Amino acid sequence: MGPSLAPAFSFLRACRGEPITETPIWIMRQAGRYLPEYRAVREKHSFLDVCRIPEVCAEVTAQPIDRFGFDAAILFQDILIPLLGMGVPLDFDPGPKLGMQVARREDVDRLHWAGMDALPHIRPVVRACRERLAGRVPLIGFAGAPFTVAAYLVDAGGARDLSKTRGFLARDPDGFALLLDLLAVATIDYLKAQIGAGVDAVMLFDTQAGWLAPAEFARTAAASADRVLRALPKGTPTIYFALAPSVGHLEALRAVHADVLGLDYRVSLAQARAILGNSKAVQGNLDPALLLGPGEEIVVGAEAVLRENRGRPGHIFNLGHGIFPDTPIENVKLLVDTVKRYHAHGGGGTP
Ligand code: CP3
Repeated sequence: MGPSLAPAFSFLRACRGEPITETPIWIMRQAGRYLPEYRAVREKHSFLDVCRIPEVCAEVTAQPIDRFGFDAAILFQDILIPLLGMGVPLDFDPGPKLGMQVARREDVDRLHWAGMDALPHIRPVVRACRERLAGRVPLIGFAGAPFTVAAYLVDAGGARDLSKTRGFLARDPDGFALLLDLLAVATIDYLKAQIGAGVDAVMLFDTQAGWLAPAEFARTAAASADRVLRALPKGTPTIYFALAPSVGHLEALRAVHADVLGLDYRVSLAQARAILGNSKAVQGNLDPALLLGPGEEIVVGAEAVLRENRGRPGHIFNLGHGIFPDTPIENVKLLVDTVKRYHAHGGGGTP
């Protein structure tokens, strides 16, 4: 695969903190059940087939670009897919169902990362997505961050407060570190394969990390994500998104080796920028629930996020968590129009 056409794109320029005239926008979980065309594909194919069959994966990845004109596409996969290369039976119904639970160190010893040979679909699906997008927008690859994938293995999506995961960590921090190490090694291989096949940027989702107190978050979740990010080839922008709401969490994020930090919808973008400094770009952070409300509030909310950034380089507009499946599609259209219009009217610095 030749070099990407992508450097001219506003999304990649924003990742690098370069000045741009228009804030790029894409939204987390932009391909999915709120789209009728996605539901139509799912009538015919299982979730795992959508992830594995190149043409189907490419179709679903491109659907939100075709409909809304987002500035980036995200590869259609799931954060739990690498578990298929670790001997963990996995299904979706529609939430993930794991055929194995990790409760203690002996269970960690039973896991084994078989390498990318166990996930032969990744390179073909990335290539198919690139072909389908035909250079229109950059393609983001992604993985779950080690802590969040560990939380799915230990708590099996059960306890809302991650009591089993946090209990394991408290009881046997060295055993838990072995689990994170194994997941970090797998995640590095997995993201390197995506980069090798042609994704333009990569993102790590740490959606469960906010259950940790800030100091534990820094030691455990952020440190293992940092290890993954440092092992990736330079030149491909990296995004780390931790769903983590406190100032203490934001302070811990400063140390993470990512070009872009995704912001939780519960933090203020202005405050986050003040804490993180201008050396890192930020992505976010409209509350996805606003998209379930009236149009006027969507416009007010989106403009408030843009205003908080005060026209500084290095802002990618996004939600501050994934879009809800019952979001009306006209509200997504309104959001995209609002973000694009804001800059068309020179709104960047003016109140
Ligand atoms: O546009 C995209 O972002 C598509 C790719 C994508 C999916 N999952 C597809 C998916 C991405 C980036 C993810 C990330 C993901 N998966 C996260 C982190 C981000 C977040 O929103 O919290 C997590 C925690 C998962 C695990 C997961 N997969 C859950 C909890 C569920 C069920 C609930 C849900 O949101 O639907 C899934 C299944 C899943 N992954 C679906 C999709 C479109 C729905 C399955 C279906 O089509 O029936």
